[in-house]
Amino acid sequence: MKVTKAVIPAAGLGTRMLPATKTVPKEMLPLVDKPVIQYIIEEAVSSGIEDILIVTNRAKSAMDDYFDFTPELEDRLIASNKFDELETVRKTAEMANIFYVRQRETKGLGHAVSRAKHFVGNEPFAVLLGDDVMMSKVPVTKQLIDAAEKYGAAAVGTQRVSPDAISKYSSLKVTPIEGRVMRVSDMNEKPRPSEKFSDYPILGRYILTPEIFEILESTPPGHGGEIQLTDGLRRLLGVREMVAVDFEGVRYDTGNLKGFLEATIDFALAAPDIGDWLRSFLRAKAEALGL
Ligand code: G1P
Repeated sequence: MKVTKAVIPAAGLGTRMLPATKTVPKEMLPLVDKPVIQYIIEEAVSSGIEDILIVTNRAKSAMDDYFDFTPELEDRLIASNKFDELETVRKTAEMANIFYVRQRETKGLGHAVSRAKHFVGNEPFAVLLGDDVMMSKVPVTKQLIDAAEKYGAAAVGTQRVSPDAISKYSSLKVTPIEGRVMRVSDMNEKPRPSEKFSDYPILGRYILTPEIFEILESTPPGHGGEIQLTDGLRRLLGVREMVAVDFEGVRYDTGNLKGFLEATIDFALAAPDIGDWLRSFLRAKAEALGL
């Protein structure tokens, strides 16, 4: 099972990050020195993905521009001998083959993924949610691809969350197979506490097979009146084995302010050029605050 295509749903309205996201797509907010979407694309590329489809909406053209060439800026950088900066801006336009499709209507994650049908064709593919940024040694998408290949199965990423948090996510019914891999036999979206199968939700990464498209076409609206990918995956279980990978790494929900700030601090601490400075700044700050 070779996975070379990925789909990034990025058509959300960003209402949890207003007013910043009123005119700037939430995927374009900077985490340290790169927009959120670039971390997602770098993860995909370092997992072996070559072709990426971003599902956007009409307010997201800043994203297409970002992954394009910028001749005026590049000419200016060449003229002033700023070759490092030139390489940085060039790199973003050459990272992968990036394609776009508009979701047109905001009808849910399942509907956004269904827009990738023609792009995907008849191959397995990865889905990376635009809000979920990962920090890990082995890219999380690669961890999922390895498990999907080993078991000839679809795969979802997971990590246990606290019992009171599961209702914000989805809940998986799982049984251990080996190591960090579990078999999935059922799931539901945004379960009430009494409805949950476990405290393992799906967290932002999926390896899916093309049967999902036909399934999504006939999946009725679910939670929140939207077409839920989770409802489609539940039906995919009827034709495909599925595994859940308790992935190694830290996941940040950059679609809300606290998650965004956590990611900003952790990625800045890990950045070679700014990490040491931030450490001493935080130390001084903690002391000043008596922490
Ligand atoms: C989506 C998915 C949900 C998943 C979550 C985190 O929910 O529908 O199953 O657990 O992302 O990756 P949302 O955050 O869009 O409400």
